[in-house]
Amino acid sequence: MCGIVGYIGHREAYPIILKGLKRLEYRGYDSAGIALYDGQDIKLSKTKGKVDDLERRVENEISTNGSLGIGHTRWATHGVPNDVNSHPHYSNSGDLVIIHNGIIENYESLKKELTNRGYTFNSDTDTEVLINLIEDIKKSENVKLGKAVHIALNQVVGAYAIAVFDKNKPNEIVVARLGSPLAIGVGEDEFFIASDASPFIEYTNNAIYLEDEEMAIVRRGKDVKIRKIKDDSLVNPYVQELQLNLEQIEKGGYEHFMLKEIYEQPHAIKDTYRGRLSLENAIIKMAGVEDHMKKFLNADRIIIVACGTSWHAGLVAEYIFEDLARIPVEVEYASEFRYRNPVINENDVVIAISQSGETADTLAAIKLAKSKGAFVFGVCNVVGSSIARETHAGAYTHAGPEIGVASTKAFTTQITVLTLIALRLARAKGTISSSDFRMHMLELEMIPDKVEKALASDDHIKMIADTYKHATNCLYLGRGYNFPVALEGALKLKEISYIHAEGYPAAEMKHGPIALIDENMPIIVIATKKGHYEKVVSNIQEIKSRKGKIIGIVTEGDSTVKELADHVIEVPETLESLSPLLTTIPLQLLSYHIAVMLGKNVDQPRNLAKSVTVE
Ligand code: AGP
Ligand code: GLU
Repeated sequence: MCGIVGYIGHREAYPIILKGLKRLEYRGYDSAGIALYDGQDIKLSKTKGKVDDLERRVENEISTNGSLGIGHTRWATHGVPNDVNSHPHYSNSGDLVIIHNGIIENYESLKKELTNRGYTFNSDTDTEVLINLIEDIKKSENVKLGKAVHIALNQVVGAYAIAVFDKNKPNEIVVARLGSPLAIGVGEDEFFIASDASPFIEYTNNAIYLEDEEMAIVRRGKDVKIRKIKDDSLVNPYVQELQLNLEQIEKGGYEHFMLKEIYEQPHAIKDTYRGRLSLENAIIKMAGVEDHMKKFLNADRIIIVACGTSWHAGLVAEYIFEDLARIPVEVEYASEFRYRNPVINENDVVIAISQSGETADTLAAIKLAKSKGAFVFGVCNVVGSSIARETHAGAYTHAGPEIGVASTKAFTTQITVLTLIALRLARAKGTISSSDFRMHMLELEMIPDKVEKALASDDHIKMIADTYKHATNCLYLGRGYNFPVALEGALKLKEISYIHAEGYPAAEMKHGPIALIDENMPIIVIATKKGHYEKVVSNIQEIKSRKGKIIGIVTEGDSTVKELADHVIEVPETLESLSPLLTTIPLQLLSYHIAVMLGKNVDQPRNLAKSVTVE
């Protein structure tokens, strides 16, 4: 996620950029930096920590005059959060500086080539590779910055929103975007660059939103030149007059961060498998797994430790790992695991799942497992977090900051990472055929579009939410891969609407919960075509005969459940093992709309914290 800000015009750049970075703090970040051109040279200051830390550092380090500058708040993906890895990054010559939001997937191969050509690198980031690629092209092809950026971006695979300037050409900033947002504020004889309009809305409400695969050169006192990165063809700038206020901008126009994050899931899932899944080479590659493959392959079992939603993701992983990779898995509440004197040995692999990377119980479980000689692997969303640093190895979800307390995109990106690991191990163990392996990869690449389709039922789900918003108890039922999704759906409803809800394996209903069912009880049943469908249908019939109100989550086109249920919400067909990535979407939206209709504080529900750093 992170944030980028830039300014070129007739005013002092520093105060505009600093305030702009503060406006972008809501996007979450771990470090911040700024580069200013003071008329002679570039002045650059950057630090791990907050924008306030940057402000203090700038005041001690650099002069802040100049009417050209760029600033950045970083959400690390490559290279832990520290001063050196913060942005902006210089090119080797010191003439160019860059800020970047996104991930350069092929940075390692580019870095190798540049190193062979004599380039050196101070940081571990993918971004520093990009600025030196631009410099190398600028020098070797003897072209201007804009052309060099255009050529470089045609060699890059990944996602970016970048801003670059050359101290020898201080009348322009070159920007470009693919997969990460970038807006240009068009003022009177001045231009603003930012991840969204919040840094410049107080100066101008005229904005140009770059489209994917577009780049632009903004020139002091001139106009904006926009080009397509692919073929360098000119694009007519479309200047919008924004009617949004600051709060609306921060939430991307959504009413709450939770809704924004629900809608970010296609992008977040794609960012999570980006660079790790290569269909054309039929390989899945994750450094943290490759480097410890023997540990995984020789493991007696995998123990998963987590809390809350992350624990639900761990349950999904149990099904995936056992089903595909045939490795025994146990899923443990970290809070229980750490105190029950568990049997752990050095042939165990422990996977710790945590969005925040700071959950105290999960951290304690990791330390216990390590003390008993187990190999511990982390799946976190925050680079450099305590859990990321405590584990022997890991793989990050690239969900971007999750601000809403109710976890949504963390859940689907955790499942994405765990699916990639399970497929990789299944391939290594030969427990999956190459055709099934390819089928899973193909289907995983289609999941972002299928999540988009699941999101399209939002209005229909809102209507159902309105019908059941006054329920006092709800049951969520699922089988197989969708049993953990039933638990997760119940947790979502509980934690933001304060309505009691329970998730159960569908077959468990007749072992007690069926006594709860009457005409006032909504029962949400996940009944997708794959996975014991007929058995779930008979569970639905049992509910119907007791007058329960049935909301079926079904595969699109399903007519059987439609006949039986009071409402159905369709999701696209997919493989059984990937169905949690889709079936969870309507449950997130259902809980969101009910909570909003009940006037609850959706982003900060009562009694809850985003990260439970205490026992
Ligand atoms: C889920 O919506 C809650 N926010 C909570 O259960 C959360 O999943 C749990 O506290 C674990 O947090 P973590 O993933 O940051 O470790
Ligand atoms: N991938 C870059 C880095 O890790 C940019 C991350 C971001 O979007 O802040 O520095």
